[in-house]
Amino acid sequence: MRRRHFIAASAAMAVHSALEPGLLIRAATAASGDDWGPAFAAARARKPWLAGFETPASDRLETPRLDIDGVWPAELAGAFYRNGPARHAVAGQRYRHWFDGDGMLQKFTIADGRVAHLGRYVATAKYMAEIAADRPLADGFGTRMPGVPPAASPDAINPANISVIAHAGRLLALWEAGSPHEIDPATLDTIGRHAWSDETSGLPFTAHPRIDRDGNLWGFGYALFRGALVLYHIGPDGGLRKAGLVPVPDLGMVHDFMVTARHIVIPIPPLVFEADRLAGGASFLDAHVWKPDLGTRVLLVDKDDFSRVEWRRLPPQWIFHYGNAWEEADGSIRFDACRYDDPGVMFSLLRYVMRGEVRPASPAYAMQTVLRAGGAADQQVITDQASAEFPRIDPRRAAVRYRQLYCVLGLGRGDAAHPFANAVARHDLETGDWDLHRYGPDEIVEEHVFVPRPGSTDEGDGWLLGTTLDAGAGVTRLNLLDARRLAGGPVARAHLPYSLPLGLHGNFVGA
Ligand SMILES: [Fe+2]
Repeated sequence: MRRRHFIAASAAMAVHSALEPGLLIRAATAASGDDWGPAFAAARARKPWLAGFETPASDRLETPRLDIDGVWPAELAGAFYRNGPARHAVAGQRYRHWFDGDGMLQKFTIADGRVAHLGRYVATAKYMAEIAADRPLADGFGTRMPGVPPAASPDAINPANISVIAHAGRLLALWEAGSPHEIDPATLDTIGRHAWSDETSGLPFTAHPRIDRDGNLWGFGYALFRGALVLYHIGPDGGLRKAGLVPVPDLGMVHDFMVTARHIVIPIPPLVFEADRLAGGASFLDAHVWKPDLGTRVLLVDKDDFSRVEWRRLPPQWIFHYGNAWEEADGSIRFDACRYDDPGVMFSLLRYVMRGEVRPASPAYAMQTVLRAGGAADQQVITDQASAEFPRIDPRRAAVRYRQLYCVLGLGRGDAAHPFANAVARHDLETGDWDLHRYGPDEIVEEHVFVPRPGSTDEGDGWLLGTTLDAGAGVTRLNLLDARRLAGGPVARAHLPYSLPLGLHGNFVGA
């Protein structure tokens, strides 16, 4: 981490949220212009790492027993689920943003020192309808498809492509602007859209819900045409405890949030959705305008009473992801994040990579923030020498004071083949020390999640589990690292005989 690298780390998010059930948003159908497919194909021939942005050859990927290196511990048993955009073209028409494609779930089953893989698309209404029609029927987050009629509801265009979580015995594939989809954890069959209640059915639900140590699940959604954020409290039994709406002027897409012991914390970046732009033919993404003068408004909501809200303010910044947050005895709230100066990465790198181009954008800095009880705020950069993304923690420290932050980094790489993350790291928030492993020069590093060692209780006692795409070998690998000794590199690896499209988020579910 000796010098700043211009960009890295796959950021994540997605979405289309602008729609509310029953609301037609499209006044006109915009033509997409030239086809990005041939440009991508030409670039793909020169840049093997673009395999990460290709549609898989089959809609079902399956390998019952992967080749392995090292020793997969017998005590590690369960399934690692991941999600991400995978179907990057419909009937030959290529999407124009990484976040557009239909979600494909990847399941790595780990048992008895062996690893198996299964990959299947989420059978959303959109996916099934487009398969049947063999033509595009819906716009994407960053793409207006020619000849596509207005969407009747968010779920009509829901690609369920951002994350996958388990809660209260349900496995849910998540988008952020529509409903979760319930998935059979064994077969990856799609059971159907999940509604928390009749009143909240079809409303946007985040790809980043937070599960606290008591098993409560907290969520939000941005309902842009209502000018409000929707808040959700789901009990440990999976039932809706309460939901609420908080009006927010100048609202746009908001990808992640936090909870502390007492509060829901939602920083709202100054990226504002303007419906007129959508009606004028812009994609959902391009209907957003960066208005840094608004600053970042931080909404604090009492977890016990959604009507009790406070507002704080931070400088303008763009954040896809937060690691964790906690509240001090004096009421101060501390959190970490991967912070960009602006959302340029979403409008440049993550868009033009779909036609095989690399367009730099501002990097993300790992940063800690303190919201003081009196209203002041401090922000401190942890590292500005590498682009950081996909922050994760030991889930046993969710919403309470914690010490270890895990993330992926884009380290300075000289003649590196690709512009994404190439290392996984642990940052000790108390000592400031970094422990990291840099993967091979052709490997793109995806999100790594923390898996507690069964029977342990200490923070950090466990493994990091994550995938890498080795563009040189043309394969995806599953990597297991001792979470306290990342510098030692993977203690075990499992090798797929094919590459997977680069994904966004996942979670491990113990057997
Ligand atoms: Fe995300």
